[in-house]
Amino acid sequence: MQVITDKVEKSQGTVAYSAAEHRTWEIINGRLSALHTQFACRSYLRCREQIDLPLDRIPQLPELSRRLHARSGHIVLPIAGLIDARRFLTSLGRRVMLSTTYIRDGANPEYTPEPDIVHEVIGHVPMLLDKDLGDILELFGRAAEIATDAQMVLLERLYWFTVEFGLTAEGAAVKAWGAGLLSSFGELRHAFSGGAEKRVFDAAEAALTAYDHTVMQKTLFVVKSLKDASANVAQFLASDAYQAP
Ligand SMILES: [Fe+2]
Repeated sequence: MQVITDKVEKSQGTVAYSAAEHRTWEIINGRLSALHTQFACRSYLRCREQIDLPLDRIPQLPELSRRLHARSGHIVLPIAGLIDARRFLTSLGRRVMLSTTYIRDGANPEYTPEPDIVHEVIGHVPMLLDKDLGDILELFGRAAEIATDAQMVLLERLYWFTVEFGLTAEGAAVKAWGAGLLSSFGELRHAFSGGAEKRVFDAAEAALTAYDHTVMQKTLFVVKSLKDASANVAQFLASDAYQAP
């Protein structure tokens, strides 16, 4: 725990966003929040209220780390550019989320060429407070530390269809819990207007399902609950299908 606390203290540097960038956040945040009331899972809505994201300015990562760390033990540290999946997942499993700090072009708020701070903070950060999500991330992190390259391919797909694009059943309804859905107007509309095939989540099947990150998702998986998904992922990671791919 001491190590994590030190990291929080060493990450006090803040990013100087322009007024236009804060305005871009405000516009996107307002529009996504309206979609969330309709399409986000209950846990996301509850966690988002707890983390209390600012409406009209881009939050700084150190302030989010302080709030997260007090509740779930997670911190968010800045990175420049993309990093490989093994390092990202290993770090996340140790409750350190590596996050970009740049924000997309305000002239085109629906589009970002790669994950930006809207994706990281609005998509991922609230759900870090969900204990069951923390358990899933720990499973991915521990597996990524020792995975072969072939196993990494399976882990990346599983991560994609859960943490990024997961849906969950809530009674008779289906709601979003994946960050790729929760941070994208287009993906949310696409997923909930019949644009994607929705399958019952099975980790073994998801791990064998290829995806294309450059287009709207054609296939999504619906978990019974995050706790159930966590148990299913653990079972798959112990299976021959994963141990000897
Ligand atoms: Fe993401």
